[in-house]
Amino acid sequence: MKTVFLSLTLTFLLFGFTTGFSLTFSNDEQVLDTNGNPIILGGEYYIFPATVDHHKGGLRLAKTGDSKCPDTILQNVNITGLPVKFTIPNISNGIILIGTKFDIEFTKKPNCVKSSKWLIVYDYEDDQLIFYFGIGDPESKPETSIPGIFYIEKYENAYKIVFCNDDLGGLNCKDVTRKDFKDGESRLVVSPEHLQDPYPVVFVDAPSFESGIAMDVKF
Ligand SMILES: *[C@@H]1O[C@H](CO)[C@@H](O)[C@H](O)[C@H]1NC(C)=O
Ligand SMILES: *[C@@H]1O[C@H](CO)[C@@H](O)[C@H](O)[C@H]1NC(C)=O
Repeated sequence: MKTVFLSLTLTFLLFGFTTGFSLTFSNDEQVLDTNGNPIILGGEYYIFPATVDHHKGGLRLAKTGDSKCPDTILQNVNITGLPVKFTIPNISNGIILIGTKFDIEFTKKPNCVKSSKWLIVYDYEDDQLIFYFGIGDPESKPETSIPGIFYIEKYENAYKIVFCNDDLGGLNCKDVTRKDFKDGESRLVVSPEHLQDPYPVVFVDAPSFESGIAMDVKF
């Protein structure tokens, strides 16, 4: 079991993670939502593509592969989808800066998972090992998931999300990107080394979006 996990982890690392991530960031720039307000820990946000229209392109949960549980994250151009919140263990409030490390979780979860925290799930598809973002409790199914932490970087007048896995002692970070899945939807995946193609996103404050007062001052 341990050996299998380790070799899969190594495959994962070879698949695309690079080392050399710097723990220090030269600035302490705030991450802003589309209202121009700082992103706060525990706040609820929709993650939408950084297109002109920040009203759809949200995330939903679905069953994929052999999963009996809707625990795969899909991005769909037509939907508002589910809001997320950013959390840091034992820290209940504060603002998120460029480079701040946090967990991402959906604000709602299906009963079939213990946690709505984002992690990487790995699976076989057409005999190929594939990695995509799903939700779950890393403690409860370590054999098919790789936990990690996230941070945000500026990208193309908007932002990108970066995933870091700290397995094997070093912190290895890769951009979160999209990969076509089916019926026009995409899965969120870690960007493979040969494809530097991050997914540019914005963060939309869920309460103001739902009350119809979300405005776009920034992008
Ligand atoms: C959070 O606090 C609990 C209780 O004080 C402690 O057991 C746990 O290790 C802390 N977790 C982190 C990540 O600091
Ligand atoms: C989005 O809506 C359009 C128009 O109804 C439809 O043709 C398209 O298949 C939908 N795409 C997805 C990913 O649901």
